[in-house]
Amino acid sequence: MSTYVVPDQNTCNYHPTSINGDNQTHQTDQHHQPSLHETLLATLPKNKGWRSENVFLYKGFWLSSEVIKGLMLIHNHFKPQPTDIFLAAFMKCGTTWLKALMFATANRHRYKFSDHPLLCTGPQSAFPFIDTHIFLDYPVTNFDHLPVPRLFATHFAHGLLPTSMLSTCKFVYVCRDPKDAFVSKWHFMSKLRSKELTPLEFSEAYELFCNGVSEYGPFWDHALGYWKASQESPDKILFLKYEDMKRSPEVELKKLAAFMGMAFTAEEEDEGVVEEIVKLCSFENLSGLTVNQGGGGGQKFTAKVVVENKDFFRKGEVGDWKNYLTEEMKHRIDMITRDKLKDSGLTLGLIK
Ligand code: A3P
Repeated sequence: MSTYVVPDQNTCNYHPTSINGDNQTHQTDQHHQPSLHETLLATLPKNKGWRSENVFLYKGFWLSSEVIKGLMLIHNHFKPQPTDIFLAAFMKCGTTWLKALMFATANRHRYKFSDHPLLCTGPQSAFPFIDTHIFLDYPVTNFDHLPVPRLFATHFAHGLLPTSMLSTCKFVYVCRDPKDAFVSKWHFMSKLRSKELTPLEFSEAYELFCNGVSEYGPFWDHALGYWKASQESPDKILFLKYEDMKRSPEVELKKLAAFMGMAFTAEEEDEGVVEEIVKLCSFENLSGLTVNQGGGGGQKFTAKVVVENKDFFRKGEVGDWKNYLTEEMKHRIDMITRDKLKDSGLTLGLIK
């Protein structure tokens, strides 16, 4: 289930290389000695989690216990390469879509669109989500087999990642109106929420979100971190918006390809390659595929948490918040957005 496409084959009968396993990093747990991870967690402020019981405040961001472990491993073991390209996003802002677009763009000379791996694997399998996959193979996942450029996805905030990674690799960041991100996240996390816990009511999730408390949050600090870095180093960080991509997917895809160092040639544009990739990766196309409709595809986050591909597709629209938020709730998020983004030059939703 959590295997990644090794793009050397030309058909859907690709041979995925497993980089996951059920092994855990809890070697010390067997001896009942607190691990470094457990010792750290015990010192951190905690709050209510959306999926699991708690999230922990680590260097200004609310993280689940699993991803704190992942972050520690990234800092200790990940060896960035100058050709690596990261897809970064706050949860529910377009990771699935961008994963498909980046994979299809990077590998456009390897596959035919009619017989493309994305059609039978789904975007989640296109490349690793590093936050948790770093520990799926004990002791640390080996990413050396990935083709160059290696593509990775992360939800970690800019300020949490190792400096070596930030200075070496390129980052594509995708952001979205926080109101839509909130509604999407509540749906998604409600599905994943442990059945041992009481459901997270919409109104409670709203309060938590506004207070910045949700996995990888606060939303606004997350967006601002990447935004400011993209302003300082536009060659290293490309900042995209979900709404722009919905409005002009071809324009945004061309920007993306150029940033990745793989600009479309005039010949490719004449042949309609840009349109083909947009069509392949569209919500309508991907969400309709068997593999994304409960047909066995999914992403393994941890030994216990596996998310089916279908749960990454809901409506794929801009402005669905209108069906969930009262005028007062909308106003409050908009005001937080306005205050947080003040003087940054970043606009989200309709808020400048
Ligand atoms: P909604 O819940 O608003 O429908 P992520 O991929 O970061 O988890 O974000 C998921 C959101 O992106 C969901 O939003 C999902 O429906 C939407 N999405 C998934 N694939 C998409 C695609 N190919 N094009 C546009 N939106 C997509």
